[in-house]
Amino acid sequence: MSDIERVFQFLDEAKTYYLATVEGDQPRVRPFGTILLYNGKLYIQTGKIKEVSKQLAANPKAEICAFNGGKWIRVAGELINDDDREAKQAMLDKNPGLKAMYSADDDNTQVLYFKNATATFSSFTDAPETVEF
Ligand SMILES: Cc1cc2nc3c(=O)[nH]c(=O)nc-3n(C[C@H](O)[C@H](O)[C@H](O)COP(=O)(O)O)c2cc1C
Repeated sequence: MSDIERVFQFLDEAKTYYLATVEGDQPRVRPFGTILLYNGKLYIQTGKIKEVSKQLAANPKAEICAFNGGKWIRVAGELINDDDREAKQAMLDKNPGLKAMYSADDDNTQVLYFKNATATFSSFTDAPETVEF
């Protein structure tokens, strides 16, 4: 399994991760769950009307953290908007529950992928392991 596949699998199995953005000098963090590996990139989903989207437009630097089974992961990098309709549709197909609120053709649905990402796998017992993608 490739590094990015391992990162995807961890986040997918964890179900929930916490996404941090910056607003000026203030960190902002909230729970997220959408995660997709598509065309070799790791995507998340949100709505363009949300504060999180506006923060990422102003400053794409972001970090996510998830904990599962005694292990945790941090992924730091930039989250880049992708208006590709196929990517949005793939995200909605993976998360059918979103289709009640979002569609690939609305003006709100947004997918973003990690660029210049550094992921660190940690646990209480093993040395941290860092991968980049
Ligand atoms: C378990 C869980 C998973 C969530 N997943 C997402 C998600 O993937 N995308 C999203 O936009 N909001 C998701 N939300 C809702 C956001 O946390 C919520 O809209 C938050 O207020 C967005 O941050 P903001 O207010 O800074 O814009 C999720 C909420 C919970 C409780």
